[in-house]
Amino acid sequence: MELIVTESYDELSRRAAELFAGLVLELPEAAVVAATGNTPMGMYKELARLAERGELDCSRLRVFQLDAYLGVPPSDSRSLEGWTLRSFVLPLGARRDRFVPLRGDAPDPERECREYESAVRKAGGFDVAILGLGPNGHLGFNEPPSDPGARTRLVEIAEESLESNARYWGGRDRVPRWALTAGMDLLLSARRILLLVSGETKREVLRRTVEGPACPDVPSSYLATLPQATILADRAARG
Ligand code: F6R
Repeated sequence: MELIVTESYDELSRRAAELFAGLVLELPEAAVVAATGNTPMGMYKELARLAERGELDCSRLRVFQLDAYLGVPPSDSRSLEGWTLRSFVLPLGARRDRFVPLRGDAPDPERECREYESAVRKAGGFDVAILGLGPNGHLGFNEPPSDPGARTRLVEIAEESLESNARYWGGRDRVPRWALTAGMDLLLSARRILLLVSGETKREVLRRTVEGPACPDVPSSYLATLPQATILADRAARG
């Protein structure tokens, strides 16, 4: 694992965007899984600027949704499919017909998870995973405890995650209690992993992520064991 500490959130966003743009140059057809949440939004804006200026071509990427709230259709403002499309796929000029959703409103969620895994495998696995760090070390909605082999599945959202997700939707009672998430096994086997971490509230969980020990109670701690993982943290998060 490589740890990059930046002085500010803006610098974090720029560095992450540069790294990702370099990966797209190397592999224009990369299979990319992209987190929602607040942290990567600065990076996505940088990438959108590069794409607008013609300095980044994302038209051949295959983008995968990372996670979804159970029972929430794409038309709902809380849809993470909608968030991924609005913040990442469309502004970067990636093609919507190459986007693979994880449908939280699928009639059979278990089957949806198996089909999603098949689609990822068919693409040869993830080339790049862009992830944020949950307050409890979750990656996607792989809540503690999650072991490194955890599959794509239906999960109950942890209390701490409900609290942190309340920021997005104006209150905790607006946050669904269950979610579908890409599994740890898929995320940890991505060929490159970028974990973005910002702000003082993430300091302790970042410390446990970086310093270990790697354990299911802090799912993100497995990243520290992987050579292909880069953690980008701002000074507020790393201290
Ligand atoms: C989002 C996701 C989550 C977030 C994490 C951090 O798709 O899967 O794991 O990345 O909760 O969220 P922020 O960046 O809002 O602190």
